[in-house]
Amino acid sequence: MKFETKAIRGQIDRTQYREHSVPMFLTSSFTFESAEAMSETFAGERDGIIYSRYSNPNTSELIKKVCAMEGAEAGFATATGMAACFASIAPFVSMGDHVLASRAVFGSTHRILTQILAKWGVTYTYVDPQDIDDWEKHIQPNTKIIVLETPSNPGLALIDLEKAGKIAEKHGIILNVDNCFATPYLQRPLDYGAHLVSHSGTKWMDGQGRILGGIVAGRADLIDEVIAFCRHTGPAMSPFNAWILSKSLETLAVRMDRHCENALKIAQFLESQDVVNKVFYPHLKSHPQYDLAKKQMKAGGGIVTFEIKGGSEKAMQFLNKIQLCSLSSNLGDTRSIVTHPSSTTHSKLSEAERLAVGITQGMVRISCGLEHVEDVIGDLRQALS
Ligand SMILES: Cc1ncc(COP(=O)(O)O)c(C=O)c1O
Repeated sequence: MKFETKAIRGQIDRTQYREHSVPMFLTSSFTFESAEAMSETFAGERDGIIYSRYSNPNTSELIKKVCAMEGAEAGFATATGMAACFASIAPFVSMGDHVLASRAVFGSTHRILTQILAKWGVTYTYVDPQDIDDWEKHIQPNTKIIVLETPSNPGLALIDLEKAGKIAEKHGIILNVDNCFATPYLQRPLDYGAHLVSHSGTKWMDGQGRILGGIVAGRADLIDEVIAFCRHTGPAMSPFNAWILSKSLETLAVRMDRHCENALKIAQFLESQDVVNKVFYPHLKSHPQYDLAKKQMKAGGGIVTFEIKGGSEKAMQFLNKIQLCSLSSNLGDTRSIVTHPSSTTHSKLSEAERLAVGITQGMVRISCGLEHVEDVIGDLRQALS
């Protein structure tokens, strides 16, 4: 079955009412026909649903779809993307272990590594996402997991997944990829040797700015550990959000096709503007990793980043002149969104830390929505003028 069909037909079994569209299972717990059935289910001797912190038909459907899309053996759905990031790292490290991470990870992932895990005696080393040939020398005997994100937020730097997969295999280390920016429609890290992928379902997966959610998918034995961690620490996704997300996945492919088409046109428009210094978009020929982007991403994604001439002052002026697009920190919505990373999403980083991942004062990020692209370009044109 092709991607689109799996996304639509990966539905759980119908109830006795033979509903066409899957219902919501808004229940915290489930019942048993006998004491024996209950104790056998608790002991794992028979299949059954016990409690929605563990599993629920709506989350099971969502997990099944994401696993089919990513080529994963198993998964677990979490309340937010950050819960998925944390649950895909924390079960695999103990005091004294080490994490190798791309320097260009999402701000809250950076906090997990530098503040939360660091407090628990887990060390980390940041490596340059674009210099993967340098990574191996930072692997230590106690390195348990490699954490990366590609394309990165907001600089859209890519990491060569095939090379990362080979390094992880050679050293017997878990490779964990945050695949939120690309979605499984555009990129499948497990095909290149990753063992785990995490997602913020809040972004392109929902695609309509309605709910928070996350998912971890990957190799079954690793997901068993993620499940054990999550069952007892409690970051489960609500059945309502799982229902929304599962429905959203039915249209992921068509939405991403249009997001990518619009983003490429917006990137090309920006490249033609005198007041723009640089435009970053993976499938733009001028992207320094264009060949890699073509190899590992089906299309360039919905985010375009550019640098306006005149630094922070001009970037702020541009944002203040925007009329149609929204000023918001989110991304992956039907509505186009403009953000100034250095004063918002990445304001907690020092200037040196920002520059190390390519975030300049004049950088603006656009999450390209599904409005008519000419209207979005019209808004950007008038704001740049
Ligand atoms: C790459 C990436 N990973 C994880 C997250 C966290 O997702 P959530 O906001 O759903 O917790 C985000 C949020 O922007 C993100 O951009």
